[in-house]
Amino acid sequence: MASSSLLSTKTLSKAKVYEIFAQTDFLLEKNLDSIPELKSNTVATLFSEESTRTKSSFQLAARQLGLNVLDLDLKNSSLKKGESLLDTVKTLISLQVKLLIIREKFSGAASSLASLLSKENLELKLINAGDGQNEHPSQALLDLYTLYRQNNKKIKAKQVLIVGDCKHSRVVRSHLYLLKLFGFQVTLVGPPNFLSEKFLELGVESLFYDLRKALDTKPDLIMLLRIQKERQRQTTTQTPSQTNSDLEEYAKYFCLTKKLLLEKKFDLEKIRILHPGPVNRNIELSAELVESSCSLINSQVKNGLYLRMAILKLLLENRL
Ligand code: CP
Repeated sequence: MASSSLLSTKTLSKAKVYEIFAQTDFLLEKNLDSIPELKSNTVATLFSEESTRTKSSFQLAARQLGLNVLDLDLKNSSLKKGESLLDTVKTLISLQVKLLIIREKFSGAASSLASLLSKENLELKLINAGDGQNEHPSQALLDLYTLYRQNNKKIKAKQVLIVGDCKHSRVVRSHLYLLKLFGFQVTLVGPPNFLSEKFLELGVESLFYDLRKALDTKPDLIMLLRIQKERQRQTTTQTPSQTNSDLEEYAKYFCLTKKLLLEKKFDLEKIRILHPGPVNRNIELSAELVESSCSLINSQVKNGLYLRMAILKLLLENRL
């Protein structure tokens, strides 16, 4: 495996997570411009799937640390001429790229690339920025960091309800490893085609198919997940128009609204709502809740910049 990479949250210890958070605190509070010792390093982004938050914040994070940033333009790269991913990556290594941030539509892509590099004794640090429906470790870390900041820099185990398309979500898998490590109790809710009994093997307490019943478990935190239309089309024979009508049907039963929270007697001063984004307003949660003081969505994005700076710094210093 490539040395000093972030491919999954599964392999992280509590001590490592706290080290990442302490480094993030330092960068956020000191508001550093750049780290002189890192300045000669080049990092590259290679995203074969759309992204706003992850790609922008990794690029800004790298620039803020004073790193050179190379964004591989896939549409105009030699991958389009038939070059293999491994050969493209070898070219990047020859160009002195030290770290690659990769998003791929295939589950396991980042780990497979790490294994191929290791077999050839090639040194390149990797960050998995989302691989299919497998994992998205930096997202889960920044979400947990947001909770840690909310709780005066402590991680307090709570009851979490995750709502929506768990089956196709890479965020949920990275979260399950991390939340279980810190003793959170996790319940999932969604329609049957978005859930799987396999989640119970990953430490989920229970699965619900009815949002109202799931809310009766009185979670402290509710995390909404995006409906992964693009991945459903890969795994089913649904046409996009069928999927759109399904979205309306989904919203009827699973869209989280202020009205529903009040009906279920939640204290709007206390309940906290997370969403990794991008949000489909009024499908996963109401626009009113997105903008409400319950929502941590903007904090998640803001914290993500500093957390990604911390990850880059620790990896380049061989401390992760
Ligand atoms: N949360 C997340 O991964 O968002 P992007 O797809 O915009 O990067």
